[in-house]
Amino acid sequence: MTKYDFETIIDRRGTGCLKWDAWSRRGHAPDDLPLWVADMDFKTAPAAIEALAERVQHGVFGYTMATDGYCEAVQSWFERRHGWRPEREWLVMTPGVVFALAVAVNAFTQPGDHVIIQPPVYYPFRLMIQDNGRKMAASPLLYENGRYTMDYEGFERQLEKTGAKLFILCNPHNPVGRAWTADELRRIGDICLRHGVTVVADEIHADFARPGFKHVPYASLGERYARHAVVCTAPSKTFNLAGLQLSNIFIPDPDLRAAFKRARNRTGYDEPSVLGITATQACYERGEEWLDELKKVLDGNYAVLQAAVDRMPGVSLVPLESTYLPWLDCRGLGLDDAGIKRLVEQDAKLWLDLGTMFGPEGSGFVRMNLASPKALIEQACHRLEQAVAKLAK
Ligand SMILES: Cc1ncc(COP(=O)(O)O)c(C=O)c1O
Repeated sequence: MTKYDFETIIDRRGTGCLKWDAWSRRGHAPDDLPLWVADMDFKTAPAAIEALAERVQHGVFGYTMATDGYCEAVQSWFERRHGWRPEREWLVMTPGVVFALAVAVNAFTQPGDHVIIQPPVYYPFRLMIQDNGRKMAASPLLYENGRYTMDYEGFERQLEKTGAKLFILCNPHNPVGRAWTADELRRIGDICLRHGVTVVADEIHADFARPGFKHVPYASLGERYARHAVVCTAPSKTFNLAGLQLSNIFIPDPDLRAAFKRARNRTGYDEPSVLGITATQACYERGEEWLDELKKVLDGNYAVLQAAVDRMPGVSLVPLESTYLPWLDCRGLGLDDAGIKRLVEQDAKLWLDLGTMFGPEGSGFVRMNLASPKALIEQACHRLEQAVAKLAK
């Protein structure tokens, strides 16, 4: 018996829900299953719902600022969950992590400069670089024996070739699901330090390390790493609060922080959302038990997917160390990317993120979102299995 309800299928259609409503707007059938964008089909932690209800009853929604209680809740969350306590003055708030990436690009580079990333990677990394008139330097991850690793030599060569002075690190990595170890982070960090490269660490999925793995905050590696880092965190994935538009960015170095703040202020953004603040504090103070239960549910869903994939010739699962977004290697199906799209969308009636969205390195892969009630995941796996079986005939 679980204390929280992760089983009820909540109808999100008609609520302006990106995941479900954008799908039907594209003309797909009502019983198609959208398991793409990274939000969850679960209600958030009861602590947040109660705190929001109380705040709504107050009825005054004027300009808001982070209180002592808010800052303490955020700091002690990272201390308890990840053994790293960010200092209060490091905190700069933004309405989202992608917003913070764009601010960092503007703060630390000039138009025409290169910014380095490790594809296949969350596609807004590339968009925030290119849409701001910068150039992308790519150091693709290596994929060998079903495991992704960083290409240190290739990364350093790219820095030397392009002169990139900014690196957007995805820690843990979406979509390949790696929870980078301290050794891996230190090694890439050392290269960045040697070349005077600032590291923007997107740690939005920090709380989803699976059993046997752990999240290593980049800035926890030590003072010299922290001093060249911008660490992007948010409660939005952890507690399904993306619509409340709030993220906490930690920048230990005062000069980097000042430059980041200036660039943020130039966007016109100022105070955070009152409901975002309310929900975040409640979750970080009283949502831990809910999160631990959620993670067990996600593990159960992963086991369902693993069992289904074991029955799909030509498909394998890249072992998921963190996030709730497993990455499926479909290259053994003998289909090109258009064929994989047809298989997923027309035969299996699913909406998954196709691998090529994350860069050409994602060709032959798809990403699935497991954060839905188990019954929906079972249905999705069944449909995919049937579609693959039909293909084999
Ligand atoms: C790695 C990564 N960064 C950032 C985001 C989005 O963050 P936000 O909604 O705060 O802009 C996502 C959402 O999927 C993500 O996977």
